[in-house]
Amino acid sequence: MQHISVIGSGTMGNGIAHTFAQFGFDVALVDINPIALENALTAIGNNLDRQISKEILSEEDKQHTLGRITTYTDLRAGVRQADLVVEAATENEGVKLGLFKELDELCPSHTILASNTSSISITKIAAATRRADQVIGMHFMNPVPVMKLVEVIKGYATSEDVTNTIITLSEKLNKVPVAVNDYPGFVANRILMPMINEAIYTLYEGVADVEAIDTVMKLGMAHPMGPLQLADFIGLDICLSILRVLHEGFGNPKYAPCPLLVNMVAAGKLGKKSGQGFYRY
Ligand SMILES: NC(=O)c1ccc[n+]([C@@H]2O[C@H](COP(=O)([O-])OP(=O)(O)OC[C@H]3O[C@@H](n4cnc5c(N)ncnc54)[C@H](O)[C@@H]3O)[C@@H](O)[C@H]2O)c1
Repeated sequence: MQHISVIGSGTMGNGIAHTFAQFGFDVALVDINPIALENALTAIGNNLDRQISKEILSEEDKQHTLGRITTYTDLRAGVRQADLVVEAATENEGVKLGLFKELDELCPSHTILASNTSSISITKIAAATRRADQVIGMHFMNPVPVMKLVEVIKGYATSEDVTNTIITLSEKLNKVPVAVNDYPGFVANRILMPMINEAIYTLYEGVADVEAIDTVMKLGMAHPMGPLQLADFIGLDICLSILRVLHEGFGNPKYAPCPLLVNMVAAGKLGKKSGQGFYRY
């Protein structure tokens, strides 16, 4: 396992490419948008500088890391040599199903196909290929070079061998892999999103204001960030779409998104990225 292709060079893709390259893997970073690739290389350079200033890496490590990353806009060229593909493209089911069908046709037969999806079924993604046993979820957390967890999601048909390979590989990246089964929200978002939704309901029902809710959870539960601030950082549109996956996937009303969240997304208040959510940025 030496050649890793990362598809999508946005927030997650650039962090995943950075991490694999830092630990000695050759990375092909692929995006349909050449500007996204340029921005990704700049972001990786800046994040490596941050690691240098924290004395985690040397200037020489930075040059080696950057030297291991090659960028592509052509998917075929970017995955030709791949031992593993980690897909981190836009969270859209149609995009992912189309990509996996294409990856299955373009990649060598031994290639493992992983998705970094936050909420789309790995089993469904795998069914778009003819190698469902070699399809798996590799859910990194943001920011990837910093966060220790990799949630490894076993689809219905994922083989034991492939799961073990991905666990061992995650450990080589100095991460802690946790294997879970493929059900809506996996583990991370199944637990996190109802908590965020409940915090929004608490605000909606006038139990307390934004600062009070976040302070209770920060100081009372030792969370590094309150749930409303965290929702702003994740993006309220992303939170809403994951809640809809949970609601639809389980058919259980306890996952129904709070009407205030629905309204805020409709009004374009998406959190940090739009300049306003529960807080102003
Ligand atoms: N942002 C997070 O905190 C976070 C955390 C965990 C998982 N994820 C998941 O990671 C994935 C990526 O999220 P992100 O926040 O980095 O998104 P993003 O919007 O920052 O980046 C997505 C990139 O994918 C590219 N892309 C779209 N279609 C493509 C295609 N067909 N081929 C190649 N590139 C394509 C886009 O040009 C864009 O640069 C999503 O599945 C998301 O659910 C995100």
